[in-house]
Amino acid sequence: MSTTSTTTSHLPPAAAPVATPAKDRPAKNRILTGDRPTGPLHLGHYFGTLQNRVRLQNEGMDLFLVIPDYQVLTDRDVADRLTEHVEGLVLDYLAAGVDPSRATIFTHSAVPALNQLLLPFLSLVSVAELGRNPTVKDEIAHSRQAAVSGLMFTYPAHQAADILFCKADLVPVGKDQEPHLELTRTIARRFNERYGPVFPQPRTLLSEAPLLLGTDGTKMSKSRGNSIALRASSDDTARLIRGAKTDAVRRISYDPEGRPEVSNLVLLTALCQGRSPYEVAAELGDGGAARLKAVATEAVNAHLAPLRARRAEYAQDLSYVRGLLRAGNARANEVAERTLAEVREAMGSPS
Ligand code: TRP
Repeated sequence: MSTTSTTTSHLPPAAAPVATPAKDRPAKNRILTGDRPTGPLHLGHYFGTLQNRVRLQNEGMDLFLVIPDYQVLTDRDVADRLTEHVEGLVLDYLAAGVDPSRATIFTHSAVPALNQLLLPFLSLVSVAELGRNPTVKDEIAHSRQAAVSGLMFTYPAHQAADILFCKADLVPVGKDQEPHLELTRTIARRFNERYGPVFPQPRTLLSEAPLLLGTDGTKMSKSRGNSIALRASSDDTARLIRGAKTDAVRRISYDPEGRPEVSNLVLLTALCQGRSPYEVAAELGDGGAARLKAVATEAVNAHLAPLRARRAEYAQDLSYVRGLLRAGNARANEVAERTLAEVREAMGSPS
């Protein structure tokens, strides 16, 4: 696994023994990750984490995908169009190559035993620790809510439950999620120290792909209206890329620091074509922004064509999608109940 994973430096090396009891461990490595059901997944998700998940699944790992529906309420009062967004996410996963016969896709709210882990977990972290989380602070700074809810402060502990209930080994996420993974490892370690070994130390798998920017030159994000959705049509893709910010220098180069917007389109083309951005830039030479946009559009549409075709096929059969979620929820419940039983036993709760 060390050949495929990027771990942060303070983590144990892949081969190091972790405090994992032999009992109830899956034979193969387990991966868990997820996406809030707030809108369609976009190219930033795809190159940032979706591709990694599918690669690991295809290498034989056991893939769990949580759709954290409660987490939607961290930064808004109501979870809008939840069913539509949940089903849309499942379709995006299937489009990206998640194998419905192997993966476990489930919604957070459908797994009560997972949610029960939150109570002991919260007892293991201090209010100060929760308040220091930089990703939470950033979300609070950008929040449009009148007041910061208790859920906003505690959702990273919730996320630890998402990860630890199935004793995941590896969590492929974007860099902004690293503080939550840090907290997850802290909770696992403290639980094991206090009550005996139950949880493994999950490792973070960060994507090697550099961060993609949105069409306005800022971070690509569902909520900023600057993203290219996986499910967008080729015409919409062309329109979005045509409207992307660039500069007036005709010579195309790859210089993310000096020319972030132009470099972003070069990078997008390179990622879609599996080439180096320097090579793409050199080939474009003095072509200017118009040529760059035409090439980027073609690269994205060609790369996404099979994904979009697969998505459209599954979208015709939403009863299949719902059945898949039911099966995923049933499996997640079984796993969560086993873990909760171990937790209660370790804590000395009467059975
Ligand atoms: N917090 C993640 C996000 O905002 C979503 C998430 C919830 C998640 N639970 C998780 C990611 C568990 C990885 C593992 O995108």
